[in-house]
Amino acid sequence: MSQTAPASAKPASSLDLSGQVAIVTGSGRGLGRTIIEALIDLGADVVIHDISEEAPAQYGEDANLTAVAAKLADRGTRTMSVTGDITDEAAVKRMVDAVNERLGPISILVNCAGGDIGAAGTKPAKNGALDISLEDARAVMERNFIGTMMMCRAICPGMAERNHGSVINVGSLNGHMGVSPEVIYACAKAAIVHYTRCLALEMRPLGVRVNAVSPGPTKSARFLATRTTDAKMMDEGPSLDRYASPAEIADAVAFLASPKSRFVSGQILRVDGAASLFAA
Ligand SMILES: NC(=O)c1ccc[n+]([C@@H]2O[C@H](COP(=O)([O-])OP(=O)(O)OC[C@H]3O[C@@H](n4cnc5c(N)ncnc54)[C@H](O)[C@@H]3O)[C@@H](O)[C@H]2O)c1
Repeated sequence: MSQTAPASAKPASSLDLSGQVAIVTGSGRGLGRTIIEALIDLGADVVIHDISEEAPAQYGEDANLTAVAAKLADRGTRTMSVTGDITDEAAVKRMVDAVNERLGPISILVNCAGGDIGAAGTKPAKNGALDISLEDARAVMERNFIGTMMMCRAICPGMAERNHGSVINVGSLNGHMGVSPEVIYACAKAAIVHYTRCLALEMRPLGVRVNAVSPGPTKSARFLATRTTDAKMMDEGPSLDRYASPAEIADAVAFLASPKSRFVSGQILRVDGAASLFAA
């Protein structure tokens, strides 16, 4: 006897995110801001977040978070902005409560805030395996791994209750291979990558997907301001042997947020133009 395929086996028709509320941490500037724009383009209501009002100005991207939010407010979806340190549990709760009250429950969480940023808010002066200051090591680990975990702890239980949600954590190529300098940053990103797999396992029976995107070097303003760049890698010609643009990372995040990836969970997508070709 022939059987017809169940309706759920049909391809999802679009990347449509209308009716969904997405929060992207660290979206006042850099990759996070581009990710917010990609999610708005797909119809999501969005929460723009940063550690402070002033964060978007640090590398000259915008005057402040209010200015960023104002520019994104007229694109046809609902928007709001929140500020708070993702390593501060009370601040995280306050932000999530504010979103619930204003836009409703969050169904897309993109943990993008982070970076190789030490206790003083800049790159650690000594940044190797043995010489980084403990203060910087703790700050980098907290800002990346603990912050990501804290956001998941605040938002995933609601997603699990509703059996609906997609979490996308931002890792880094550095989290997949031995590097020096940026050692503790690499360790924090490796922790995020593995936390992604573990959380995906816990969320599996509950219908909540958890994935990560690990970008290769990407031309955010902070990236360009904090290292010596190779002119040959800046060109966006046909070769993939170059730096990524923020939009190329945002497109991968948008796919993982959308129904097009509805059976993809626990996966780490390295978006690096084939710079890393090992198996794991
Ligand atoms: N640019 C790259 O080459 C690259 C490569 C791999 C991974 N990444 C990752 O992508 C993400 C974005 O990086 P970017 O290059 O756009 O840098 P960025 O500095 O512009 O973005 C990081 C954002 O996180 C915010 N943030 C930092 N600590 C925070 C905290 N404790 N609480 C709340 N917000 C905080 C910052 O204010 C900023 O808005 C980071 O997680 C970074 O590690 C970047």
